[in-house]
Amino acid sequence: MEVFDKATALLEEVQQAEIADGEALEQFRIRFLGSKNVLKSIFSEIKFVPNERKREFGQLVNAVKQAAEGKYEELKSALELKEQDAKFAELDLTRPGVSRVVGSRHPVRLVMEEMVDIFRKIGFTVEEDREIEDDWHNFSALNLPEDHPARDMQDTFYISLDPATVLRTHTSSVQVRVMERQKPPIRILSPGKVFRNETISARSHCFFHQVEGLYIDKDVSFADLLQTLQFFASEFFGADTKIKVRPSYFPFTEPSAEVDVSCFLCHGEGCNVCKHTGWVEILGCGMVDPNVLENCKIDSSVYSGFAFGIGVERIVMMKYGIKDIRTLSENDVRFLDHFKSVIV
Ligand code: DAH
Repeated sequence: MEVFDKATALLEEVQQAEIADGEALEQFRIRFLGSKNVLKSIFSEIKFVPNERKREFGQLVNAVKQAAEGKYEELKSALELKEQDAKFAELDLTRPGVSRVVGSRHPVRLVMEEMVDIFRKIGFTVEEDREIEDDWHNFSALNLPEDHPARDMQDTFYISLDPATVLRTHTSSVQVRVMERQKPPIRILSPGKVFRNETISARSHCFFHQVEGLYIDKDVSFADLLQTLQFFASEFFGADTKIKVRPSYFPFTEPSAEVDVSCFLCHGEGCNVCKHTGWVEILGCGMVDPNVLENCKIDSSVYSGFAFGIGVERIVMMKYGIKDIRTLSENDVRFLDHFKSVIV
């Protein structure tokens, strides 16, 4: 019958359809799947089909519809692939890439992070605070009342017109802030920038970095301080590093000490870094003076503690063989580039 032939011809047309572009795909969709598609019109001719073949005809038209749907999806993905291929064909994989500028961590930052990681292992957490300080937190609370001669040791930058506000001369100010707001036990490390009105030279600068440590609890002793510093020295400078403790004076600690480590370069043989003494000074420390605890409302008859302050730049310079402290703040990329591959 003629309508059967028409439907069969449509099926063949679907099966053999090929398209070149999106336009042709859309034509295919409109013809076979659109709202006024050819299958609807052929199906309306079912009235000319004798009753006993109506079912067969319905099935045939349905088969054409399904084939059209399948073919549409197939053509669509083939077209997408073709478009992608065309895009890749435009890609020139031999072209040199655009190189990106990758930053590097500053050597001072590298060393401070290494120190923090070491003290973290024994329970110290990091506390940071302001660089512009008041007189109380930088001096008075630390047992350095006005007119105390030791204030002269720290050439202070005063904020103009306001002698009570200073650029902090040490990170010990963070000790005071933490003790004021936190009850013992306290076990903190405060890395940060400090400022002193010193003549800039190859060996000293008007700003540099310190890492301050503080441990306050019941029954903290000088032996605990030594254990902690020995642990740090062995981790940072190497397992066989020895420490040497010399008596010293700081207003905020009693007793106070300065600590040397056996030279990590020559191991005591004598070299330029240790100036042929075999020892390198790395920090100041001591047992927190009871006055300082009381200033921060901590009962000194119950609690005791130790503190230490490490100067970072000197250690950075020794570690990386840097001769002039000024190179650390000049931001010369040729210098900073050296530290790109340093992974601590
Ligand atoms: N604040 C001292 C300085 O800047 C370093 C220091 C010494 C810190 C002894 C301390 C300490 O906590 O106990 O020179």
